[in-house]
Amino acid sequence: MQADIENILIHETTILARLDELAAAITRDYAGKELTVVSILNGSFIFVADLLRRIPLPLQVDCLSVASYHGTQSTGAIHFRQSNLPNVEKRHVLILDDILDSGLTLHAIVERFTADLGALSVKTCVLLDKQVTRTTEFQADYVGFKIENKFVVGYGLDYLEHYRNLPYVGVLTPAAIERGAAEAKNKFA
Ligand code: IMP
Ligand code: MG
Repeated sequence: MQADIENILIHETTILARLDELAAAITRDYAGKELTVVSILNGSFIFVADLLRRIPLPLQVDCLSVASYHGTQSTGAIHFRQSNLPNVEKRHVLILDDILDSGLTLHAIVERFTADLGALSVKTCVLLDKQVTRTTEFQADYVGFKIENKFVVGYGLDYLEHYRNLPYVGVLTPAAIERGAAEAKNKFA
């Protein structure tokens, strides 16, 4: 698995040090408020686990599974995989995701929570913010790291469901991307 990584973009120790800062800001901002954290699966699971253990508030956790991405290209369409969304009436909601790319996923989720679920506030927190020209004017409220426009894996992020368990964020070699694409093509051929 490590052989498929061209370079490590963010080391584990750097990630964890930044999570200390993010957690401190979130703890300060939500002290005394009824907070529900919503983890967007699958990509955010490691980020959420490490971040939440640094936040000493009496919060609730829900998970939401959405699909929007195939391979290294955003498809643009967001699909909510469950019919029942979390009950967040009269609660402050903080949505946690792995990465902000086109912004379509988080934009759709925030709209949904703001429109029909009766939350008091809806904010977002992402580990990574890709510096791209966005089709939607969307910005996250809390950002771990701004990164350049490269496809990254690890620390929860996948390429065709692989590499999520790498402890760092890294860039794939072109060979690994090609191999994955060829394998996926064979599978569906
Ligand atoms: P968006 O809707 O384009 O912002 O895409 C968000 C989702 O696409 C993220 O939650 C990730 O699952 C996936 N994604 C976007 N960029 C990357 C990347 O560089 N590596 C792995 N997954 C990515
Ligand atoms: Mg993904």
